[in-house]
Amino acid sequence: MQRFNTALLMIGAAAILAVSGCEGDPGAVGPAGTASCLDACHTDNFQVQNYIADVQAEFEQSLHNTGDTYLRRGSTNSPDCSGCHTTEGYQYRIANNGDTIALTQSSRIGCFACHAPHSNENFNLRHVGATDLLVGGAGAYDKGSSNTCAQCHQARSPSPTFASTDPITSKYWGPHNGTQANALSGIGAYEFSGTTYNSNHGHNTIENGCVGCHMAEMPADALAGGHSFKIDYIYRGAFTINDNGCQQCHSTEDVTLKVETHQANFQASLDSLIADLNTLGWLDADLEHVAPSAIPVDADARGAMFNFRFILKDGSVGVHNPTYLEAVLAATRAYVTSQLP
Ligand code: HEC
Ligand code: HEC
Ligand code: HEC
Ligand code: HEC
Ligand code: HEC
Repeated sequence: MQRFNTALLMIGAAAILAVSGCEGDPGAVGPAGTASCLDACHTDNFQVQNYIADVQAEFEQSLHNTGDTYLRRGSTNSPDCSGCHTTEGYQYRIANNGDTIALTQSSRIGCFACHAPHSNENFNLRHVGATDLLVGGAGAYDKGSSNTCAQCHQARSPSPTFASTDPITSKYWGPHNGTQANALSGIGAYEFSGTTYNSNHGHNTIENGCVGCHMAEMPADALAGGHSFKIDYIYRGAFTINDNGCQQCHSTEDVTLKVETHQANFQASLDSLIADLNTLGWLDADLEHVAPSAIPVDADARGAMFNFRFILKDGSVGVHNPTYLEAVLAATRAYVTSQLP
């Protein structure tokens, strides 16, 4: 069945090429629109080679390229994982309305995950238009070219649910890793009864969301931004933010210092939450995951653990949407404190 599906995809791609030839779209990003496949990518023309080479050099630094989560060793790459962790699984999911597939062979998230040159005939993105959020609903994320990022960097629905009386059995319970699309747009944290969170922040309005900051122009003498997707780098031994995507709003500030100050305050508050959750016995020994059997069968208790994971695995230590993430952290701390003996 899997092989059959893969074969169909390949026949589909071949058919498109056969019908349309290999001419580009004049309005597209990338090499000249009139270019053929040979001129566009597979060529001796040094100008074109340099063009792609820059992107490739940047991308070599990206965790998409260097990470190993595309491998599910010793078993198939299950449909629960392949849609966000592999090129083939992502291609299948986008082509099949969100359906996912088990893969016996898979590759890392490469150029042809995000781009579809063999069907678009240019470097336009494979997925355009608003992105559905598993925790947030249809079309809930709509920020230009970063709609691609949100396809994978979003919270997953917890199973069992908050209100369920089924016990939590896995230490990995929660929204999974990479909750950034939800965090940035202020959608999907658990709301304790009587609480709502303000999601209004300047960062929620940045053009092209993630791409505006993480794919900003590269700093002159370092590897960050562009297709490295990195926001920070080490400059003369010091942690430094690539501020090329920040200047339009923070032109008079030292953005690296701003980030460090904000993160230090936020982390101190997060550490207090971790200490309290640990006192309650709700955390695994790694102080990151849940201790399934210890968490009361109670929506608020589960909500608190969900919010903890939501904030932690956003990875920005409160920077993505400071207003929202601070509000969620404060409400979660207030609830957890009320549960302490
Ligand atoms: C097909 C799913 C997918 C898409 C699309 C995607 N990512 Fe990722 N991203 C991942 C996965 C999975 C990882 C972790 C890879 C690993 O560890 O093996 C990751 C890693 C990252 C990292 C590194 C995180 C770290 O801890 O250093 C950044 C930054 C990032 N992605 C940003 C983006 C941005 C920005 C976009 C959109 C332009 C994007 N991603 C699109 C799945 C995706
Ligand atoms: C909705 C998309 C999505 C699905 C489905 C998904 N992941 Fe992930 N996963 C991500 C993203 C995005 C990251 C990278 C997050 C980051 O670096 O901030 C990630 C990171 C990870 C990591 C790195 C650990 C860490 O602490 O960052 C592991 C391990 C992982 N995923 C395993 C799995 C497994 C196993 C499955 C299937 C049961 C799965 N993932 C399903 C999106 C997904
Ligand atoms: C995780 C998703 C992702 C991956 C992987 C990826 N790209 Fe991109 N790429 C993007 C996004 C997002 C843009 C910006 C598109 C826009 O603004 O319309 C882009 C833009 C481009 C452009 C347009 C010009 C430019 O530099 O901005 C080219 C060419 C390109 N990518 C080539 C590649 C190549 C070659 C690879 C593999 C080495 C690659 N991309 C891997 C997401 C990705
Ligand atoms: C306001 C600019 C901005 C926007 C918009 C933004 N980020 Fe970030 N992101 C940051 C900063 C700053 C950090 C913290 C970097 C650090 O601590 O080193 C960060 C951290 C991260 C991390 C943790 C790993 C790392 O690179 O440090 C990931 C993964 C990530 N962002 C992905 C995304 C995704 C996906 C989106 C869109 C849904 C997004 N970001 C939107 C600025 C931004
Ligand atoms: C579209 C405008 C815009 C862009 C682009 C932008 N920011 Fe912001 N940012 C704001 C606004 C508005 C605030 C709230 C007022 C303030 O603190 O300056 C803010 C606040 C912050 C804060 C929180 C300060 C605090 O302690 O509450 C940090 C950290 C930050 N920005 C970092 C960044 C970084 C890093 C980038 C680029 C990667 C970036 N911003 C890009 C508009 C923007």
